[in-house]
Amino acid sequence: MTKITIEGNNLLSGEIKISGAKNSAVALIPAAVLSKEKSIIYNVPEIKDIEYLIKIMELLDCKIEHKNNTLYIDSSNLKNKPIPEDLSVQMRASYYFMGALLAKFGKVEMSFPGGCNIGARPIDIHIKGFEQLGAKVEIIKNRYIITADKLIGKKIYFDFPSVGATINIMLAAIGAEGTTIIENAAMEPEIVNVASFLINMGVKIRGAGTKRIEIEGTRKLNNGICEVFSDRIECGTYIIIGALLGKNLTIKGVIKEHLEAFLMKLKEVGVKYSINGDTLIISKTENLKPTYIKTLVFPGFPTDLQQPFTTLLTQATGMSIIEETIYENRFKNTYDLNRMGAITNIISLNKLEIKGPRKLHGTNVIATDLRGGASLLIAALIAEGTTEIENSDVILRGYSDVIKKLENVGAKIKITE
Ligand code: EPZ
Repeated sequence: MTKITIEGNNLLSGEIKISGAKNSAVALIPAAVLSKEKSIIYNVPEIKDIEYLIKIMELLDCKIEHKNNTLYIDSSNLKNKPIPEDLSVQMRASYYFMGALLAKFGKVEMSFPGGCNIGARPIDIHIKGFEQLGAKVEIIKNRYIITADKLIGKKIYFDFPSVGATINIMLAAIGAEGTTIIENAAMEPEIVNVASFLINMGVKIRGAGTKRIEIEGTRKLNNGICEVFSDRIECGTYIIIGALLGKNLTIKGVIKEHLEAFLMKLKEVGVKYSINGDTLIISKTENLKPTYIKTLVFPGFPTDLQQPFTTLLTQATGMSIIEETIYENRFKNTYDLNRMGAITNIISLNKLEIKGPRKLHGTNVIATDLRGGASLLIAALIAEGTTEIENSDVILRGYSDVIKKLENVGAKIKITE
């Protein structure tokens, strides 16, 4: 079990370069099975989830060369095989092989996907979408077997603008006859990133990034090339660290259009920063102010930055409230935050109050999920003394080169197996 040890309370200065977005990359790799033969994906982050997806692609007889954050994928020998549980359960994003293989072969077999335990995370919206396109979905034990003699384009309305379902139905619709329209689609940047790849392969897609997306079924696809967008969640996490410990900390690879709600909240709590193009410079903010945060789908405040922001609010003078509307169980980090000296209180299923400012002290903690782990890592960086974070694999899953990036700007941080 990987453990991260941190000596807290060191100011951080220097430069951090944001990597490619995990939540884009994990969709772009399965999407590559649709390209004619070869595809290239640039700016791929170095994280565990990518390794698992490469294993699944190789199981399907794709050849993958992975060098300098670039994937060279040859899917000319692609074979459709059942995806084993030990791989599909490693992450939530394995479910993108459903849409991709259904479009390519009209059949896919795989186990239930995994993912952070921050809620039930059903995939009913995905399944309903596949069925509306004409697929038959069977669940035998914990295996999905999805088949379709023919997929027919349809107008599909999502009960909830699910990121995963939007991407999955966009992929499946490529194998359908005619046009598919997704109403109430998710608008997260990841959708646009995947659509740009598919359009590059020759698929006619309109409206990616809006509530309404139109996809033309396309039989013959070209080879595809794309670049993974800069990771808005990794970026927001380091900006929070800069607001707490920065000494002209420079963060490169910032796409401010992907972080508008978050940056507005930062301003509201008194954080000052300068931004020029994709470069943001930030220093430690004294006298942080409390605020109210409600997580929403894009372009609202992102749920994935709720837990890192909680740590920032432990340093604000007064009472803050966070309302988590996307997941039903995303406050698990607060137990260990309180053990470090924070005062947070879950006042209802999805509401948290945070009282500050509180001096945090180092202790042994356990990362419960990816962004909860990030929240504890930030707390450890500002705490007096030493903190050991158990189960840190969950952090390494989503933050590329996090130890090196923080060491390079002066953090006293190391991995102890
Ligand atoms: C993606 O998850 C991200 N993961 C999540 O990031 C992110 O929090 C989420 O989008 C929202 O932005 C990846 O991209 C791999 P959803 P996804 O479908 O696609 C419910 C991180 O920390 N729902 O938009 O699973 C679901 O239970 C991770 O990087 C259904 O009920 O998100 C959740 O409560 C965590 N039925 C809500 O919708 C469905 O069929 C949002 O889910 C699908 C979703």
